[in-house]
Amino acid sequence: MYQTNLGHKKARVLAMAGKGGTGKTTLSALLIKYLVDKGQTPVLAVDADANANLNELLGLSVETYIGELKDRMKTETPPGMTKREYMEIYINRAIVEARGFDLIVMGQPEGPGCYCMANSILSEVMEGLAQSYRYILVDNEAGMEHLSRLNLRKIHILFVVSDPSSRGVLTAARIANLTKALKVEVRHKVLIVNRTPKNLPIRLKDQIQEIIKETDLVFGGYVPTSEEIFQGEIQQEPLLDLPGNTDVVKITQGIFDRFLTG
Ligand SMILES: Nc1ncnc2c1ncn2[C@@H]1O[C@H](COP(=O)(O)OP(=O)(O)OP(=O)(O)O)[C@@H](O)[C@H]1O
Ligand SMILES: [Mg+2]
Repeated sequence: MYQTNLGHKKARVLAMAGKGGTGKTTLSALLIKYLVDKGQTPVLAVDADANANLNELLGLSVETYIGELKDRMKTETPPGMTKREYMEIYINRAIVEARGFDLIVMGQPEGPGCYCMANSILSEVMEGLAQSYRYILVDNEAGMEHLSRLNLRKIHILFVVSDPSSRGVLTAARIANLTKALKVEVRHKVLIVNRTPKNLPIRLKDQIQEIIKETDLVFGGYVPTSEEIFQGEIQQEPLLDLPGNTDVVKITQGIFDRFLTG
């Protein structure tokens, strides 16, 4: 794990949300690539989707899910060790290290039973981790179930990803409103419309304008359908390896520049 001391500065938290299959994980990987390329490191990537696959797009393999540790803590904490010590050691071991960033995978949310203690230890460990990274990026599932457990308190930017459809942008608006129910302050909410065709219908553009007016979402940009992403997925090549001059890399960098370091 990174031992970088960023003083008392805490990591800025970025999060991806959006309905299933809209491109949250793809854009998470492109955002990590962006931060690493810009030297905005170290970054902690958190895969908070039960059906975790961010690691594949980053070219990493994962051995331990945090979800498992919560169960193991209950039965496997050896005598002489507190549950807190056990969680701290194993959460740190579960962090996968890469160049410029680390990855931690939440896995399946817990089943029935009491996980209050495990969750409270997890949130304390996250608090500690927040001191060691410049950015924390959380790739969520639509419901953002893990987000409240991570106890991140403040999200600097929530990117809400939509597909280019009327129902898609309406769902994005609903997801943006859903954060009010989470115990987390969201500073900026940014709509990204992904997988757009060459010619976007005027009607859809108008609908997006309406959503922007009616919610606290700001418009981030359009990300076109990318042949390179399509090919990369089939060849199982990590998105981190996409050349910097690829259209989708340039376009997403332009969007992230406006909201992050630019
Ligand atoms: N701009 C794009 N161009 C081409 N293909 C894309 C683009 N964005 C995403 N995809 C493809 O769309 C599919 C879904 O993307 P992704 O897995 O990132 O979505 P997701 O929102 O994370 O899905 P889930 O809700 O299942 O976690 C993947 O096969 C991905 O390669
Ligand atoms: Mg995903």
